[in-house]
Amino acid sequence: MKVLVVGKGGRESAIVWKLDQSEEKFEIFTAPGNPFTARYAQNIPIKENDVRALIDFALKEGIDLIFPGGETSIGLGIADEGERRGIKVLAPKRDAARLETSKIWAKSFAKKYRIPTADFEVFTDEEFDDAVEYVKGQTYPIVIKADGLAGGKGVVIANSVGEAINTLDQFMNRRKFGEASRRVVIEKFLKGEEASVFAVADGYRWKVFAYARDYKRLLDGDRGPNTGGMGSISPVILDRTTRSLIEENVVKRTFEGLAKEGLPYKGFLYFGLMLTENGPFLLEYNVRLGDPETQAILPILDYDFGRLILSAAVGKLEIDLIKKCNRFSCCVVAASRGYPENPITGFPITGIEEAERIADVVFLAGVKEKDGQLLTDGGRVLSVVATGDSLEEARRRTYEGLSRIHFEGMHYRRDVGM
Ligand code: AMP
Ligand code: GLY
Repeated sequence: MKVLVVGKGGRESAIVWKLDQSEEKFEIFTAPGNPFTARYAQNIPIKENDVRALIDFALKEGIDLIFPGGETSIGLGIADEGERRGIKVLAPKRDAARLETSKIWAKSFAKKYRIPTADFEVFTDEEFDDAVEYVKGQTYPIVIKADGLAGGKGVVIANSVGEAINTLDQFMNRRKFGEASRRVVIEKFLKGEEASVFAVADGYRWKVFAYARDYKRLLDGDRGPNTGGMGSISPVILDRTTRSLIEENVVKRTFEGLAKEGLPYKGFLYFGLMLTENGPFLLEYNVRLGDPETQAILPILDYDFGRLILSAAVGKLEIDLIKKCNRFSCCVVAASRGYPENPITGFPITGIEEAERIADVVFLAGVKEKDGQLLTDGGRVLSVVATGDSLEEARRRTYEGLSRIHFEGMHYRRDVGM
């Protein structure tokens, strides 16, 4: 069985690592991959956004399944193109992927199917003046979101009218994210703890299989700018009432709504939630697994993840395979100086082998190999993961492992799992 994993980040490193442990005995390919995936897979130099080349390669190589890690190829319609050309792809089609590629579509969908989400208004760039009037009449903070994909940077929490107007100007007039920020959602600020919930679906059936928490802010104590994610833990322990509110009011209504819209969903669906005094609210959908949540989730799954994804891909999801995990996992990301705005890279990385003797695994992300030396090559460089019988144990081993790693300008949060 040949599988092609699309991507090159920490999430894809974790996916490849886990698939390598499967009873399914996959022959794994990664496009484009990184020096970690090269240990278990053949890296193919095709970019994530080159959907045609990915499918051409898959047809030529006799790939049985394409597993896109991130949203890029999914948003570009890799599932539609795969279906057209006869290749199985574990991802939703472009129309269903609007859950992530258009916040306006997602919010309207949530409203239509009574999924709890913050009250919101939508404005296009032609309505800039109306948007300015609107924000003048709000209580603060408020949340402004670019409609389209913005690499995790399209959400601003504005604390004053001035900041809100400035953000609207950046997004709508100056097109900070191009076409993606021509339209915006302005929504009420919600207070609470965040949680990430992950479901897998086969086009017909679906099931929640993991709860995690992502540490999105750059600095300790949830300060600093939002990032792609600086660390994660799994599971997040929630009481039974909260879990059932999530699964009934958010997850179930979403999959039932998709079916009613004629958009059967295949692949992973990630619900970003705020657990408020008034119950769980949907913040966002992602049509994929999370990065770095995946790095924490996969090491504690004690069933065959490879078998799970194959069953989803062929439309026969093995729901009974999914079991509660009994262990805890902690993942801490080491980032380059300057991340997320302008990471400075190209520095040698040392101590990975030693770190892996203490923690469980070091998943590489923004790393390249030159003359046998690993060099930093991106904002999020690597993530260290350890598991344990308690979160404290997992956390202690993760940080102990991380302390052996060094590169110039290395930055990480010290409060993941606290
Ligand atoms: P999103 O991409 O929509 O999940 O937004 C990114 C991050 O912004 C979330 O993980 C939250 O930390 C924050 N956020 C988004 N929407 C809200 C909201 N309505 N209230 C408070 N925080 C929010
Ligand atoms: N951890 C956030 C994301 O994957 O979007």
